[in-house]
Amino acid sequence: MKLSSKQFTTALLSLMAAFVFSTVNATDAPTFYADALPVFQKNCVACHQQDGPSVGGIFAPMPLDNFEQAKIWAPMIKNALITNYMPPWGAHERHRGQFKGERYMDQNEKDLLIAWVDAGAPEGEEAEATSSGGLVANGAGTTLPESGWWIGDPDLVVGFDQEVYVPDEVMDWQPTIQMPVAEGAHENPKWIAKAELAPGGPWVHHIVSSHMGVGVPGRGPFTYPEGWGVLLPEDPFITVNMHYHKNPGEGTAVNDLTKAGFKFYEDGDVIDHVVETNLLPHRGWTIPAGDPSFEVNNTYAIDEDIFLLSMGPHMHYRGKAMRYELEYPDGEREVLLWVPDYDFNWQFLYEYETPKFIPSGSTMHMSWWFDNSEGNRFNPDPTQDVVYGPETTDEMANARIYYAPTTPRGIVVGEPIPVDVLETAREEDMVRRERSNLFDPASNDFSWLTEDSP
Ligand code: HEC
Repeated sequence: MKLSSKQFTTALLSLMAAFVFSTVNATDAPTFYADALPVFQKNCVACHQQDGPSVGGIFAPMPLDNFEQAKIWAPMIKNALITNYMPPWGAHERHRGQFKGERYMDQNEKDLLIAWVDAGAPEGEEAEATSSGGLVANGAGTTLPESGWWIGDPDLVVGFDQEVYVPDEVMDWQPTIQMPVAEGAHENPKWIAKAELAPGGPWVHHIVSSHMGVGVPGRGPFTYPEGWGVLLPEDPFITVNMHYHKNPGEGTAVNDLTKAGFKFYEDGDVIDHVVETNLLPHRGWTIPAGDPSFEVNNTYAIDEDIFLLSMGPHMHYRGKAMRYELEYPDGEREVLLWVPDYDFNWQFLYEYETPKFIPSGSTMHMSWWFDNSEGNRFNPDPTQDVVYGPETTDEMANARIYYAPTTPRGIVVGEPIPVDVLETAREEDMVRRERSNLFDPASNDFSWLTEDSP
């Protein structure tokens, strides 16, 4: 096609106009209030807020709905986005839409924040903030209720009966401690609807608790779907396996007073699904020293129809990736969870938005990958062969699941509890009493220091 000179000029002019327009746009850098704030609110503020939630023991260091703070942290923010360190989440993109509390961030949102940082983190006009609209997502704007608990006013609070002294020397310590239930505080079995662990401070690295599941960085309070519950028997034996982790050295000692709160179902509520859990640990392997990608596999046969509520992979510092794959009775396979870049510091419980039906006769195939090479910067010692064990310098290959049989139980809260349910709950409590090797905070016994510490 040949253009007349007039057509050509018009075309050129509109081209130039478009160019000028886009340059103006490019120099019109994003500002905090108009552009960055809505992205922070959607993806970050659920944790990064004043008095924000403990995410399993650690707290986000700064509020990101505050311009001064966001500006100070701008270079770190860019870095956290580029390295995918923030927002923290482990499930592969393919699972988008499946799990509660998922934290995927769109690339254009990342690009926008990075552009804002690169432009020198300009403030913009505060008035623009309100006009940006669509601010609320991922719990943004929530504030800690006056009770001090995210679950609301707990019906029962338990805690250590005295502070646990974590001495200067400690870097890594994992005592099992009882949380006594005050006399008369829990005389009748009750159904747990919600549970929350309130760690005493940032030195609490992770907590495995009876009746409450696991409190690790990245996990907030534990809320069961309506009609799902765990029975807390009378006079329960509540234990927590604490994992303290801090920099050792003079003046670093802390006193920890971790607490736990429960909310119970009310009379008349109906429990259809009594939650069961299985750690599905897999032992008997040896990860060779230096191996950058060692794979272990295990299977688990499902012999009744169940609803799968959640999955919680667990490895230690050499953990690299983890997969749960379901084989249906007809042989068809489905990846239930793929965590391609496992991080010990952020262990999530992947809880289905809607519990997933799994027919009897299915098989769960679980695979774990470990990086025991020196290329793994978390590796405590790449020259060691490693086996299953409790210390963080050992390894684990666990694939915890929470689930319930599909048949509704129709248990009405307040009416007599079915005998089988009550017996099971009491039995579990007894086993816990027998197995526990408790540390007594009152004992002033620090002989363990010589065994565990460097
Ligand atoms: C699930 C809660 C959560 C969400 C969501 C979250 N953060 Fe964080 N963030 C944390 C916690 C907890 C820490 C402290 C962790 C640590 O010390 O490594 C942290 C640390 C950081 C740090 C400091 C990193 C460092 O190297 O010290 C930056 C920067 C950061 N977050 C930015 C963001 C941004 C930007 C977003 C949103 C895109 C975001 N975070 C979303 C919980 C969260």
